Parts: sequence; C-alpha cells; structure tokens
Amino acid sequence: MEEALLDQTRLPRHVAVIMDGNGRWAQKQGLMRVRGHEKGTKSVRQTVETCAQLGIAYLTLYAFSTENWKRPKIEVDTLMKLLVSSLRKELPTLQKNGIKLQAVGSLHQLPEKAQRELTEVMELTRENTNMHLTLALSYGSREELTTAVKLIAQDVVTEKLAVEAIEESTINKYLFTRDLPDVDLLIRTSGEHRISNFLLWQIAYAELYFTNTLWPDFRKEDLLQAFKNYQDRERRFGKTSEQL
Ligand code: FPP
Repeated sequence: MEEALLDQTRLPRHVAVIMDGNGRWAQKQGLMRVRGHEKGTKSVRQTVETCAQLGIAYLTLYAFSTENWKRPKIEVDTLMKLLVSSLRKELPTLQKNGIKLQAVGSLHQLPEKAQRELTEVMELTRENTNMHLTLALSYGSREELTTAVKLIAQDVVTEKLAVEAIEESTINKYLFTRDLPDVDLLIRTSGEHRISNFLLWQIAYAELYFTNTLWPDFRKEDLLQAFKNYQDRERRFGKTSEQL
C-alpha cells in the first residue's frame, strides 16, 4: 500500500485504536506476555509518527482499560513501567512532530510515578497543535458515562443546568473526551470483533476496521491499508447515497 494511493483530502480526522494481541504475539513465540507489550510500544511509535506525518488531527489509543487492573500484578506493573519509560523516551518525538499529549480515564488510579510523568509530558507538549494524541488509561466507557450522568445531575440540582437545556452536545461536554471530536475510524487489531467498553458514545458514526494482525506486528503498511479501506467506504450518517 503506497501512501500516494491515499486521498489526502479524505483522511479521517479522529482515529481511535484498540491495540490488541500483545499477549498472543508473545505466547506464539514462547515468550512471556510482557514481551508482547514491550514489542507493542514499537507499533505505538510507528502509528503515532505515521498519523502525525499524514496530518491526522486526533489519535486516541486504548492503552489500559478499567478491566485490565484484574490482570496478574506482574503484567499490570510492566504495563505501568512501559508507560513511564515510553513517555520519557518519546518526548523528543512528540516535540519534533508537534504532538500534544492528553489522557482520558480514571487517571487518579494510576501509580503516582505514572501520574507524575504523564502530567509532566502533557504540560511540556501543551502548546503543540499538529496532532492531539490521547491515551486512554484506566479507561472504561461505561464509567465515563456514569461519571457524566452524576455531574449532569449535580448541575441540575444546583441549578447550573436546566433539564430542558440538555442536548447531545451537553453530554459531550461532560465526558472525559470533551475536547475531542467524534471518532471517524476505529481500528482493532488481532481478529477480535468487539468494542470492549471503548468510546461507546463517541463511535456512534465511526467506521469500524478489524484486522487479524496482532498489535506488535502492526506497521505503517497496516495503518495505510486501514485508511485506504476507510476511503473506499461511503459514510452516509443515516442519509441515502443520493442525498450526500
Ligand atoms: C492488549 O493486548 C494490549 C494492552 C492491554 C496494552 C497495550 C499497551 C501497549 C501497546 C504498550 C504500552 C502503551 C503505551 C501507550 C506506551 P493483550 O495483552 O490483551 O493481548 P491478548 O489479547 O493477545 O492477550
């Protein structure tokens, strides 16, 4: 797949990725699961760089779900360590490509070290405008929606918000992703066809792309393939072809 075959004017504005298959990749080669996560960081770097170079405005990566806390401690610890070391290592890449880092999720549940590193890199990249990279960390969409409902209820009780004034756009404003537009393209690797509690509200009109490639094997070529597939589809948002 050549980059030149893509229509630069019809790239997705917001791409979200469920990076799946690290454990299976490792097990297939007789390695410990954590090796798969380590290898997965290379795919993260390539995906981030390619998206920035192509001019994708928003990239959101599902790095750790609320359910992932149930994994063995050694795996959780490794993922948190990888997060900290990747943030440190990749700061120059973020700066070079003008990438602003953000995070969504129950961030207070992360180890303090991870929270500190995250806050620091977010602060240092705050002024970058080329691409918004959002890491979903300790993230669950139902938790996000539950939190939003509570906040809305509070604002209604304290009369900051009238019930009649609640619109779809109001709900957006109460989500962790309040600064992000709707997702245009959701990619999931490793052959699983599930959403797994990721951005349920935000993917209402997203195109879904599933590939059998395991995340550690996911390369620029695979990403370009996903974009080509996206461009070959007709997005109708409920209208007929003739109305578009
Ligand atoms: C899913 O594979 C992947 C994860 C739970 C974590 C993703 C994390 C990384 C790619 C590395 C660190 C991230 C950043 C942003 C630096 P799985 O373990 O569920 O695979 P399996 O389904 O084959 O078991």
